[in-house]
Amino acid sequence: MPKKTAPAAVPANLLRAAKKVMKNAHAPYSKFHVGAAILLSNGKIFSGCNVENASYGMTNCAERTAIFSAVAELGPAIEILAVAIVNDQGAPSSPCGACRQVIYEFGPDATIFFPAASGFKQAHITELLPEGFRLQ
Ligand code: THU
Repeated sequence: MPKKTAPAAVPANLLRAAKKVMKNAHAPYSKFHVGAAILLSNGKIFSGCNVENASYGMTNCAERTAIFSAVAELGPAIEILAVAIVNDQGAPSSPCGACRQVIYEFGPDATIFFPAASGFKQAHITELLPEGFRLQ
């Protein structure tokens, strides 16, 4: 029998925030609406959605929108403890490589909750991004 891992329990307030912000996604090209919410060490929650562009490469993922909005509001001394990600298609989707690196910058010890084949999966950022880049 293949080993089954129990679906992760996503913190309810993070999940709620991610689902709410997903409704604001601008995704007319992929039609894949994503919401992300981050929990900071000061207890605050920030959220973000994906924002696409007719020039496809300009797209900003939900995770980075949430993180950039936290930095814009509070400055760069934030620490991300957890990230929850949802999409409107019930599709498995772990954060992209670019977002993993940006999460790592502000949350080297962060826990990521993302949609898996059944329920949510939970992973430490360094499992998703081994040897993330750091200056000095
Ligand atoms: N996307 C995110 O916002 N976060 C992810 O974790 C994966 C991908 C967005 C980018 C694009 O707008 C759409 O999903 C399809 O790739």
